[in-house]
Amino acid sequence: MKVLVIGGGGREHAIIKKLLESPKVTEIYAAPGNGGISKDAVCVDIKAVDVRAMVAFAVEKAIDFAVIAPDDPLVLGMADAMAEKGIRCFGPDKAAARIEGSKVFSKSLMKRYGIPTAAYESFSRIEDAREYVQKAVYPLWIKADGLALGKGAIQAPDVDAALGILERLMVDKVFGESGSRVVIEEHMSGPEVTVLAFSDGRIIRPMISSMDYKRVFDGDMGANTGGMGAIAPNPHYTDDLARRCMDEIFLPTIRALESEGCPFSGCLYFGLMLTPSGPKVIEYNCRFGDPEAQVVLSLLETDLLEIMLAVCGGTLADIDIRWKPGAAACVVVASGGYPGNYETGRPISGLDGRGGANGVTVYHAGTKWDGAGFVTSGGRVLGVTAAAETLESALEAAYSGVRNIAFEGGHYRKDIGGRPRQG
Ligand code: AMP
Ligand code: GLY
Repeated sequence: MKVLVIGGGGREHAIIKKLLESPKVTEIYAAPGNGGISKDAVCVDIKAVDVRAMVAFAVEKAIDFAVIAPDDPLVLGMADAMAEKGIRCFGPDKAAARIEGSKVFSKSLMKRYGIPTAAYESFSRIEDAREYVQKAVYPLWIKADGLALGKGAIQAPDVDAALGILERLMVDKVFGESGSRVVIEEHMSGPEVTVLAFSDGRIIRPMISSMDYKRVFDGDMGANTGGMGAIAPNPHYTDDLARRCMDEIFLPTIRALESEGCPFSGCLYFGLMLTPSGPKVIEYNCRFGDPEAQVVLSLLETDLLEIMLAVCGGTLADIDIRWKPGAAACVVVASGGYPGNYETGRPISGLDGRGGANGVTVYHAGTKWDGAGFVTSGGRVLGVTAAAETLESALEAAYSGVRNIAFEGGHYRKDIGGRPRQG
């Protein structure tokens, strides 16, 4: 089959490498891909959000199956546009992608169907929001309704901070129209767990749990990032919790979307918090997490293409999804300055031509191939990933991989998976 993977980060590199293990894949394209991906797939210079050009390319190349990995093309309706041209694809349609594209939609869905989440109110008029924050309990969270590159959730410690955040989101529109409506919700506490799940709209099959490290510095300090590392499985997620989440969160979510007339087909991301009063949803995403995909897919035994075809064809019930025993770890190496402004074009040393060594897989997130070697081209540059029998040995391997790699300004967290390690 000719497969097209849309996107160009570490998650897409992990998806592509996994798909290449399938005997059914004969050709694989990535749009836009990146330097590292270009060693595994044919990269096509089309932006992930350019729905029209992407569909035209898929038609021209007679693509058999498209995997839409990032959130923005899904929210824009790329799956619908592919379907209109008869191209099968993995990823929810525009109506179901609202579960990530609009926090007002997802929060009201949870409220109506009794799915546990932080208590909240939503506002489209700043006057009402201002009045609400005067009387609220602190800290609280203010979130832009729409997509905001993972930066749209902001904690407010007090009224003054809350008023400032409302101003930035609703008046200055720092996230554009995404901030024209906001959700204001109570603060929750507890360990966080990511559960990715395949769904064909009726059946839901959770994958191995994972943990994402969102803050830039060790000890969960500093600004939020797209994710500085991940481990799988998540040590906090017991079998009991998994059963409880299935009954109280996963199945009710899939059924809620079906009842609303927008069944979800693709990978549904549950961002959960294990609060003292039980597991609650922090957020949904309509796609694989990045870097969660890097660790979770490392442990997948079953042919990913077969699963994706079953998701797309509504036959997930017929597939047995198997996982490798053990654990996986991913350490992200980022450009100096990230998640703020950062420079690109720095030569990277320590990668072989295909970007891996010693049982460690290096997924490329922001690299370019300049003809002679890889140079940096993004904030998150590499996701150094290893799977092993135990989490400890996966971490050892991933960190030994990281120590082989260098570029000017590069930084990474030394405490992925627990205690700080030698850099
Ligand atoms: P979101 O963009 O909604 O996933 O939020 C990003 C991060 O902010 C989450 O992973 C949590 O660490 C934190 N967060 C968001 N909402 C809350 C909340 N209501 N209580 C505590 N932490 C939160
Ligand atoms: N790692 C968080 C996300 O993919 O949204």
